[in-house]
Amino acid sequence: MDQIEEIRSKVDIVQLVSEYVPLKKAGRNWRATCPFHAEKTPSFMVSPELGIFKCFGCGRGGSIFQFLMEFEKMDFGEALRFLAKRAGVKLVSYRPAGEEAEKEKLFQINHLASEFYHYLLLNHRVGQPALRYILGRGITRESITVFGIGYAPNLWDGLRRYLVGRKGYQPEDLERAGLAGGGRESHDQFRDRLMFPLKDHRGNVRGFAGRILPSGDREAPKYINTPETLVYHKSDLLYGLSVAKEAIKKEDAAVVVEGELDAISSYQAGVQNVVAIKGSALTEGQAGLLKRFCQKIILALDADLAGDMAARRGVEIADNAGFEVRVASLGSFKDPDEAAQKDAGLFKKQLAEAVPVFDFLITSAFSRFPQGTAEAKRKIGQELVPVLVKISDEIVKAHYVKELAARLGIAEEAVWEQIKKTQNSKLKIQNSTSEENQSAKMPKSRREVLEEYLLAILFQAEELKILQKRELRNLLATPAFLRILETLDNFTEEKKKFGPKGFAKELPEELKEIFSNLYLFDLGDLLRDEEKKDREIEKTKRDLADLVLREKLAELSRLIKGLEEEGKEEELGKLQEEFRRLSQKLA
Ligand code: UTP
Ligand code: MN
Repeated sequence: MDQIEEIRSKVDIVQLVSEYVPLKKAGRNWRATCPFHAEKTPSFMVSPELGIFKCFGCGRGGSIFQFLMEFEKMDFGEALRFLAKRAGVKLVSYRPAGEEAEKEKLFQINHLASEFYHYLLLNHRVGQPALRYILGRGITRESITVFGIGYAPNLWDGLRRYLVGRKGYQPEDLERAGLAGGGRESHDQFRDRLMFPLKDHRGNVRGFAGRILPSGDREAPKYINTPETLVYHKSDLLYGLSVAKEAIKKEDAAVVVEGELDAISSYQAGVQNVVAIKGSALTEGQAGLLKRFCQKIILALDADLAGDMAARRGVEIADNAGFEVRVASLGSFKDPDEAAQKDAGLFKKQLAEAVPVFDFLITSAFSRFPQGTAEAKRKIGQELVPVLVKISDEIVKAHYVKELAARLGIAEEAVWEQIKKTQNSKLKIQNSTSEENQSAKMPKSRREVLEEYLLAILFQAEELKILQKRELRNLLATPAFLRILETLDNFTEEKKKFGPKGFAKELPEELKEIFSNLYLFDLGDLLRDEEKKDREIEKTKRDLADLVLREKLAELSRLIKGLEEEGKEEELGKLQEEFRRLSQKLA
């Protein structure tokens, strides 16, 4: 057995997946709403016996390895090491190649760079002014360590001398990590800056943000961030998540702040479930990432949420991802950093009293257009209707339509009317692009649906007797299903004991997935009730038999028509007789 197989057999996929996704038992399988696409009814299935998962909505599926690669965005090698450790399997050798190897190298370089900067800040003379500045802002030594804050020296080649001179990396490697620039005249990208390592939720250093010091050039940007690299994608990173994720899970909520220092000060004040979006609006990538850990988001932003279109887009994204979104008001504080530093108690209270985002937006609009004139009401409508249109939950939407109508002192219908107008103009744009997606998925015929359902019951209930009968084969027409039954015949002829995993191994590659789909088919708790199951089997068989008859009748009537036209009386008689016989049977 190779090591991959060994690991697969030792790690229980249900246990692994349920650490990330709440699974519910469904017959032989386990079920959940898919973590990989937005859906309301669950179509994500996990089979403990086959050691696989599959979403019948978005089509993603595979083993424990694919699950981690998809969910944790691990490379294959990472997933392999992670699972080997979990299974207690000592890996003989695994050498990543290509892009994966390149990523590993960039992680290593970034990690070494973060240690280099961190050391200079805490332990070296050159870091002293920076250390004084950050301590002066109320950031503790403990936080400096927890977040790995550092200092990039005021040199053109400080980091290069360390990584190229001492650690043996090439100047091009540093450039690919975003730590050096300037081509042939390669020089350090970050100089004389306070350094914040940007870690992903698993603690890999993906990039850096470097903040200027008060002594720095006034013309220079306040922050310099790592440019997009193979491992750093700004829109997928949430600052602080590696530190905060356990607290986020525990609270089932994430406090979202603007900047690195907001996050660190909040953390210090005892708000540990905090992440920063680094000065831009929440993205889909970030929302998807957070969704793995919690259902609620509390926005504590310095941006004027109501006026700032980008921030509003972030709210829409969070709402679409299914979050319950609240907004905290910071009172007279300019940002969470200041609030947390000056009055931690009050800051926590402000977070606890955060209001649902749509209430917040309504209140804010009315406070800015309080006149009560038709013109003021029009402006309020213009601001809020586009927000209401996008609320994904219809009940929540109806709630706010009612609220808005009441506050405007107008009929609800008027608000609904305005919403429809806005929706219609949007639909027109969307329709022109969505057609090609629709044709990609061919709907299954009724016949295939019935055959699949019948076989799903028979295989999951392990009705081997029925599965081996000739009669069943006469009911089926889908070649793939017939071939699976053929394999089953050989399997039992060789007197092997049937088990889904052992059987799946015998199948040719192209049938494996079709078989596992039968096994993952969601039967609810049908199999728990023996009688109900038997009735369902009989009924489905009858439905299929009817279908077979109907198809034969249709074929016969086509033939009869042909013969009538050609005037072949003799053969015609025989067919008509056959037709009568079948019709009677059907009746
Ligand atoms: P701030 O200007 O609030 O940063 O930007 P700060 O360090 O908290 O500022 P002070 O010290 O309170 O005045 C918020 C976040 O926006 C991003 C950074 O992530 C920052 O933490 N930002 C800001 C940039 O990426 N680039 C910039 O030039 C400025
Ligand atoms: Mn700030």
